[in-house]
Amino acid sequence: MNAMSPWKRLGEIQEQILHGDGAFLVAVDEHGHPNAMTIGWLQVGTVWSRPVCLVLVRPSRYTHSCIEASGSFTVNVPRGTMAEELAFCGSRSGREVDKFAALDLGTVPGTKVKAPLLADCAVAYECRVVARAELKPGGLLDEGIRAKYYPRGDFHTLFFGDIVAAWELSA
Ligand SMILES: Cc1cc2nc3c(=O)[nH]c(=O)nc-3n(C[C@H](O)[C@H](O)[C@H](O)COP(=O)(O)O)c2cc1C
Repeated sequence: MNAMSPWKRLGEIQEQILHGDGAFLVAVDEHGHPNAMTIGWLQVGTVWSRPVCLVLVRPSRYTHSCIEASGSFTVNVPRGTMAEELAFCGSRSGREVDKFAALDLGTVPGTKVKAPLLADCAVAYECRVVARAELKPGGLLDEGIRAKYYPRGDFHTLFFGDIVAAWELSA
């Protein structure tokens, strides 16, 4: 795999996530065991004069507790379609099933964070959480968004990950 600038391939990555079936957010639990969940929203940009990856995770997700436990995560953008794996990781919880074992997902160890990278993906970011913020009802100004995305009040936590390494994974 080859190191790349976090700014490389951004347009392509957003296209892939928007028109594909999402990307994988991977974090390890308190025992160091990895879990993967599907995400559809990913922001990569500059915050605090550094490259930052922002992900939105509802507190109900097992992934939420993994990120809280380890303080880091990886974001893995599929090469073409990994529809089956994304559907599984987006509908099953790591509380009930070992998704890595069930899908026989190939991994590459993270170089700077505890979470691994997914070997079959095109691009991966290693991220160290530098800030978290809870979306609160009063902070959400659009009633349509609230009604559509938060009917049960499960407001996302925003995790800001300092991108400490970015990789192009070989085919
Ligand atoms: C396409 C797609 C995108 C998703 N995006 C998010 C997201 O950005 N944030 C989130 O909290 N859940 C999102 N989910 C739901 C989680 O992936 C799903 O609840 C998953 O089973 C959680 O796994 P976990 O409990 O092992 O963390 C998405 C699901 C799909 C299918």
